[in-house]
Amino acid sequence: MHYSGNMKKVLLTGGLGYIGSHVAVELIKQGHDIVIIDDLSNSEYTVLGRLSELTGTEIYFELGDVRDIDFLKGVFQRYEIENVIHLAAKKAVGESVNKPLHYYDINVSGLINLLKVLEDHQAKKFVFSSSCTVYGQPEFLPVTESTPFGDTPSPYGKTKQMCEQILGSVAKVARYEVVSLRYFNPVGAHHSSKIGELPKGVPNNLVPFITQTGAGLRDQLKVFGGDYDTPDGTAIRDYIHVVDLASAHVKALKVDLGPYTALNLGTGRGYSVLEVIKAFEEVADMKLNYSIVDRRVGDLPEIYGDPSMAYKKLRWKAELGLTDMMRDAWKWQQGLAK
Ligand code: WQD
Repeated sequence: MHYSGNMKKVLLTGGLGYIGSHVAVELIKQGHDIVIIDDLSNSEYTVLGRLSELTGTEIYFELGDVRDIDFLKGVFQRYEIENVIHLAAKKAVGESVNKPLHYYDINVSGLINLLKVLEDHQAKKFVFSSSCTVYGQPEFLPVTESTPFGDTPSPYGKTKQMCEQILGSVAKVARYEVVSLRYFNPVGAHHSSKIGELPKGVPNNLVPFITQTGAGLRDQLKVFGGDYDTPDGTAIRDYIHVVDLASAHVKALKVDLGPYTALNLGTGRGYSVLEVIKAFEEVADMKLNYSIVDRRVGDLPEIYGDPSMAYKKLRWKAELGLTDMMRDAWKWQQGLAK
């Protein structure tokens, strides 16, 4: 497949990562020409070949760090970039508590670098990877886009709040539109099992820990807290299939939204930890080894989003349910074991 050099491109930062690789597939499926930049700090170079296999096309890739403004300037000189989807950031809540400066440097300075370079180029749209964590512990559920920012305990969450505030100000004077997509809990993998989540070390997140326990890589899942004020006592989250999440990014490029828009990307349905475990046990046809232990510090009892604004503005809604999420997450895990 030859490179279509003259097409205007979408710059996808962090495009070899978990979310990024799924966004890359959806962008190419919809006919976009993309350039991926990634520093491989939380991704594998082999994902690039998987993406080419999946999409039947070669993909422009440049190894680099968003903190290196000269690298970013070079990328904009080498390609005609019309849209930017910025996913390159650190995202581990716990790690951010121990390494706050690292998180502010990459997540905030990295964004500022990208916005500085954009000042010298004509872009149409800047899509930013934000998170429901900006809401902290909301007073009312479901969370809507007018729910105020809350006291988010981790530096990771604070970087997302800061980035949205920076983008809100820049959008008022920039020639391009800005969309902040507030992810709830992305889980699952592409149905082909060629791309998926590759957590480094012991997974912090629930679903990869479940699938690794199912695969015998972990002895037992610890359920953090069974005494929350929820129907079964375990905490509730709005899990969303990563492919649904990815398709929202492509839709965000298509529609005119005005200078600054923030949208919740969730399903509108919360599931408890025990409900997720049950869904896994059904798709994997096994009993999962787990025990209920003390709560994890910093966890919210319950959060789920109202996705109606994303439907209104993007004509997007999540199509896949919890069974799909767990089926695809399990299939991906089984493929890794081989
Ligand atoms: C989900 C539920 C845990 C692991 C975080 C970030 C968010 C996003 C996703 C980056 C909670 C419980 C978990 C385990 C468990 N990150 N759990 N045992 O904390 O909702 O969100 O990750 O984008 O910004 O805040 O996700 O998957 O860690 O936890 O019982 O071994 O599963 O207590 O109730 P979380 P999670």
